[in-house]
Amino acid sequence: MPAPHREVRVLAPAKINLILRVLDRRPDGYHNLWSLMQTVGLEDELRVRIRSGTAGVRLTCSLPDLPTDGRNLVVKAASLLLSHVARAIDVEIELTKRIPLGGGLGGGSSDAAATMIALNGLLDLGWPLSKLADMSAGLGSDVPFFFSAPTAIVAGRGGDVTPVSLAGGRWIVLVHPGFPSETKQAYQALSARRAGVRPLSPAHERIGPGTGLSWDDVIPHMENDFEPALAPAYPILTELTKELLHAGAEAAMLSGSGATVFGVFRDEPSAREGCRTLGRRPGCFSAAVPSGRRPIECEDV
Ligand code: C5P
Repeated sequence: MPAPHREVRVLAPAKINLILRVLDRRPDGYHNLWSLMQTVGLEDELRVRIRSGTAGVRLTCSLPDLPTDGRNLVVKAASLLLSHVARAIDVEIELTKRIPLGGGLGGGSSDAAATMIALNGLLDLGWPLSKLADMSAGLGSDVPFFFSAPTAIVAGRGGDVTPVSLAGGRWIVLVHPGFPSETKQAYQALSARRAGVRPLSPAHERIGPGTGLSWDDVIPHMENDFEPALAPAYPILTELTKELLHAGAEAAMLSGSGATVFGVFRDEPSAREGCRTLGRRPGCFSAAVPSGRRPIECEDV
């Protein structure tokens, strides 16, 4: 039996999509994706406590508007993991949100993965991350990636994840325009706009686990299929992208299905300066953060 009142702290990082291609529609209604995903140093924080005895999952959250019941991915993830454990466990989770909601930054998905990693440790399950990732696929298409943080190629619906190593690092300026983007609607806008599916380019096909990737290799090939699909309805996204480039970003683009736009900067001072410039826009949230270097880990409290 686990010791009473064990507690861990886990940081759940946001992600950006350095490349996001949306390919053909699958028989299950989802789309096949091909994405190069990267975590960044903007993190939600979770404190996870367990007690043996009664069974249940309780979540409290720093954002009063976020549901803390069974609709929250954190509760779903904890309940899913506990359904595979034949013990009565009481789980208490405190979630501090810093990643904007509806931002294409995978905040909820990262929280779900972090919850499962925390419980795997707290309950001394010793399950490999690949098992947790497979288990998590039904929670949401972005969840499996976070078990292969900081960098991975993600394919299929989101569950085919291949970790890759991206040499060096960059500073990323995230700019959220102050309104959320609904993933489902973004897919609908994409389908309405395009006549057919453009196949994966030879440059993207060459990006693979064995290729010894660096940021310099990736930056010229950054693209996101949602960008042209969302631009007519949200001209501000194109404006923010242009402003990031003007502020010195090596590349700038939409993340996921939006609404966050990000710029890639060579170093911290230039990113902080870019962040200051973009932060002057009323209603926008901006942050300068380093690209992620580590997998998600929990620490004892
Ligand atoms: O899996 P997730 O909850 O993130 O998906 C939200 C919506 O995005 C789905 O209902 C679907 O319409 C769309 N989607 C898709 N193909 C994917 C991932 C998501 O069509 N690979």
